[in-house]
Amino acid sequence: MDRLKIGVLISGRGSNLRALIDACAAEDFPAEINLVLSNKLDARGLAHAEATGIDTVVIEHDKFPDRESFDRAIDAVLKAANVELVCLAGFMRLLSTWFVETWRDRVVNIHPSLLPAFKGIDAHAQAIAAGVRLSGCTVHIVRPEMDAGPVLVQAAVPVMPDDDEDTLAARILAAEHRCYPYAIRLLAEGRVKIVGERAEDQAPGSTAATLIHPAIE
Ligand code: GAR
Repeated sequence: MDRLKIGVLISGRGSNLRALIDACAAEDFPAEINLVLSNKLDARGLAHAEATGIDTVVIEHDKFPDRESFDRAIDAVLKAANVELVCLAGFMRLLSTWFVETWRDRVVNIHPSLLPAFKGIDAHAQAIAAGVRLSGCTVHIVRPEMDAGPVLVQAAVPVMPDDDEDTLAARILAAEHRCYPYAIRLLAEGRVKIVGERAEDQAPGSTAATLIHPAIE
């Protein structure tokens, strides 16, 4: 099996990275991680990658004069590692239009809300403040605008009356860990195709592109 080569970009804890590492450990998973790249030296997720023998690189954004020169450095490292798909997993840097267009339809992000609701860094607090009964997570193709782009997979989770940011984040994170590997599988197997601003399901009748309380295979 020819596996899709992915590069995972992180800034911190790396629990989604870990979910991807675990998925890739299965023989029938159609992707493999060629590189983990962090913009922070102390990102805890780096240890997960190192423990499993995956190559890691740290490129600190604050060593660069502007966003695009940092992005060009990332681009060079990803290409040198033969990466075909870039997965943002808690990577807390906005990518430049130059990078997103260079990697058009080949950058994926996970965000802890049902986009387009609650973009930005405080998605859980926004959901609680808005009083919504459901929130969730979204895996999507990245566009230059923050937290925007064709939706690959979504999962909804309930927001409980007594939730705080931490309890809601934990419930959503469990869904993230199921959705991210599933979205990568869909892409790697060609089961979704990006057509303009929509991800189209290539298996008529299936619910691959949009899931609610998913029963993920
Ligand atoms: C995850 O909840 C992810 O959805 C979120 O950061 C967390 C990273 O956790 N990303 C964003 O908010 C991006 N806008 P992790 O490092 O344990 O995977």
